Amino acid sequence: MLSTQTREIVKSTAPVLAEHGTAITTVFYRNLFAAHPELLNVFNHANQAQGRQQTALANAVYAAAVHIDNLENILPAVVQIAHKHVSLGIKPEQYPIVGEFLLKAIKEVLGDAATDEILKAWEEAYGVIAAAFIGVEANMYKEAREQENGWNFFKPFTVVRKVQESDSITSFYLQPADGSGVPEFKPGQYISVRVLIPGEQYTMIRQYSLSQASKPDEFRISVKREADNDPNGVVSVYLHKQVNEGDTVEVSAPAGEFLLDTTKTTPVAFISGGVGITPMMSMLETVAVSSPERPTVFLHAARNESLAAFGHDIEKHALNMSNIKYKTFYSSGPDGQITREALASYVDPAGDAYVCGPVPFMEAMIRELLAIGMKEDQIHYEFFGPAMQLEQA
Ligand code: HEM
Repeated sequence: MLSTQTREIVKSTAPVLAEHGTAITTVFYRNLFAAHPELLNVFNHANQAQGRQQTALANAVYAAAVHIDNLENILPAVVQIAHKHVSLGIKPEQYPIVGEFLLKAIKEVLGDAATDEILKAWEEAYGVIAAAFIGVEANMYKEAREQENGWNFFKPFTVVRKVQESDSITSFYLQPADGSGVPEFKPGQYISVRVLIPGEQYTMIRQYSLSQASKPDEFRISVKREADNDPNGVVSVYLHKQVNEGDTVEVSAPAGEFLLDTTKTTPVAFISGGVGITPMMSMLETVAVSSPERPTVFLHAARNESLAAFGHDIEKHALNMSNIKYKTFYSSGPDGQITREALASYVDPAGDAYVCGPVPFMEAMIRELLAIGMKEDQIHYEFFGPAMQLEQA
């Protein structure tokens, strides 16, 4: 329990730290990686290069500090981040290391303004925040371990099939190399894939949504190939070009809480842009298998026909469903974008909508779904990339 004085210091200095947040976390990562280069096996270098992770961590620590009196207020955000941490295999013993370098960075950036009293207060507050994360993550690890065929951290999987879905998206069917089955997962969850690309010094980890309904023996991910010179594309280009059937990649257990509520039978709309279609495929197949009478709408936006994936899968699932409408909108074609009018004609505003795609697409879809009368709690979405929302939690 933090003393009242400590809490007051933390809350009153949080805005100062927030103001220097990006500078502090930039120094933090520089020094952290200099002292612990092994952590470069865990962090996404592309996010680092773009400063995205710096902002995410800074936001998270300050938001937690602002809510230090009632950390349960930010529990939903903690849970979302904890899913990511668990998927990455973050361990409790890494928290003090991050804490130490965060404190040192605060001191380095703020100089004399960071008095011993202020630093002590932040050290204590970090301890409380870290304990909250460690506790939530310990439960998640336990749950993952105790599931049938469950495991913690990474284990080798064999690529048993590689199937091209469009000009840019290829699916990889993955089975545990030890011959075991895979745990049941919820539609919308993702796995992490870890690879050591020849010629690279450090492993790289990326998250990919599972793109089919839960099956006992395999996972499927569907990866969009980014441009060869895009730092975000290093792993996707490697998977597309160099990983073939029979090869091995390391995989962590399913995680994430952008989930289809499978207990509902009310109307549901799946709305995706580009590779955001992947979690929607898992959700659609789950509805097709488990509640085929559920009124369902599946809208997808793609630039053109050659980039639209899963046309056959969608048709196949639709054949099993008694009440489905589906359509792909090509931005280069006569239909153009998914507009408010299109949403109004397809989507039942009394149901639920699941949205996934690039950030501008999601912002537009959420805005238009609200405009046609949906309430915020009926609209479910997941941004790919570092979560920025903790502040609003
Ligand atoms: C991701 C916060 C501790 C490693 C994140 C994200 C946030 C965050 C907000 C982005 C989540 C997302 O992408 O959805 C925090 C806070 C911590 C903490 C508040 C301490 C209380 C740690 C520790 C490690 C770690 C101890 C391990 C050394 C990572 C990694 C990512 C991540 C590798 C993925 C992003 C990337 O690779 O760029 N964390 N974190 N974090 N965190 Fe943490």
